Amino acid sequence: MKLNIALLAGDGIGPEVIDQAVKVSNAIAQKFEHQINWTPALTGAAAIDAVGEPYPDETHQICLDADAILFGAIGHPRFDNDPSATVRPEQGLLKMRQKLGLFANVRPTFTFPSLLDKSPLKQERIEGTDLVFLRELTGGIYFGERGRKDDGNTAFDTCTYTRSEITRIAKKGFELAMTRSKKLCCVDKANVLESSRLWRETVQAMEKDYPEVEVSYEFVDAVAMRLVQWPNSYDVLITENLFGDILTDEASVISGSMGLMPSASVGSENALYEPIHGSFPQATGLDIANPLATILSAAMMFEMSFNLQEEGALIRKVVDQALAEGFVTEDLADGGKAYKTSEVGDYLVAAILK
Ligand code: IPM
Ligand code: MG
Repeated sequence: MKLNIALLAGDGIGPEVIDQAVKVSNAIAQKFEHQINWTPALTGAAAIDAVGEPYPDETHQICLDADAILFGAIGHPRFDNDPSATVRPEQGLLKMRQKLGLFANVRPTFTFPSLLDKSPLKQERIEGTDLVFLRELTGGIYFGERGRKDDGNTAFDTCTYTRSEITRIAKKGFELAMTRSKKLCCVDKANVLESSRLWRETVQAMEKDYPEVEVSYEFVDAVAMRLVQWPNSYDVLITENLFGDILTDEASVISGSMGLMPSASVGSENALYEPIHGSFPQATGLDIANPLATILSAAMMFEMSFNLQEEGALIRKVVDQALAEGFVTEDLADGGKAYKTSEVGDYLVAAILK
């Protein structure tokens, strides 16, 4: 099979972890006789420095032309500490999501048997956790009307949702639930917010089309609590953009390291795969960042964009093997030997080609 992939390394540790995902993907291609054509493109602070904006038109065109997009990380501290900066790397990510119509952000949280003791949560609480958030990604308060009034002394951001935006993400949620344990949780704040009431009304109306799916409705504050108390009671959760942003960071600690969880952002035409962690600027260039979240994102890419299940499964298998053997970067080394980012990549390549 021929795979055309846009490669957006981005900022900070992005290029280092992307390099490992490329090595691993190329090994998979060699083993299964695929041909991958990588097209690099600029994004984030790197793009601001080169051409003055974080998601240049040329990058957009490369993404449109590709079968899938593999993305590293975005963000640079020199913008974080400057609230007056008008051009920010993160704007590139938001623009990309919007222009490519990537409305469904798929963020799984699962545990690795060999890492159960790495989680800050009690082992017996997290054992068996395997849940997926479907976060709405192109609507809500991220993209609503915002501004200042009263001579700049009042600021506002608006959360707006249409029934069709809710329907399309909910549909993905029901469909995903059908392939898993048929449990769907709609996370909202319907006791306060009108947009949440529309979410609940819309999802309730869809229940009759999926009679086998058991749907629960929970308030976001309660989910924030239960997620760390009984994470393994959840399976598929759907929620709006900002709630999803917050809850998926919270959920990521369950697995034991931010550096482990992959994600996909899917639209009707395009799909982008990226680790859920940020650009980790302090580690840039040190070859110490954990590449596994990006490598597992590549596994999701093989599975979801190309329906290459065996290829994805092999990546997951060698990742499990590296973890079980302690062939890990310093975030997981726990006093034991810490391997370099590139060494973990080399280990996985060798394990795939063996
Ligand atoms: C994420 C990030 C982004 C978001 C930032 C970098 C704009 O936190 O992907 O979760 O808020 O969506
Ligand atoms: Mg976030």
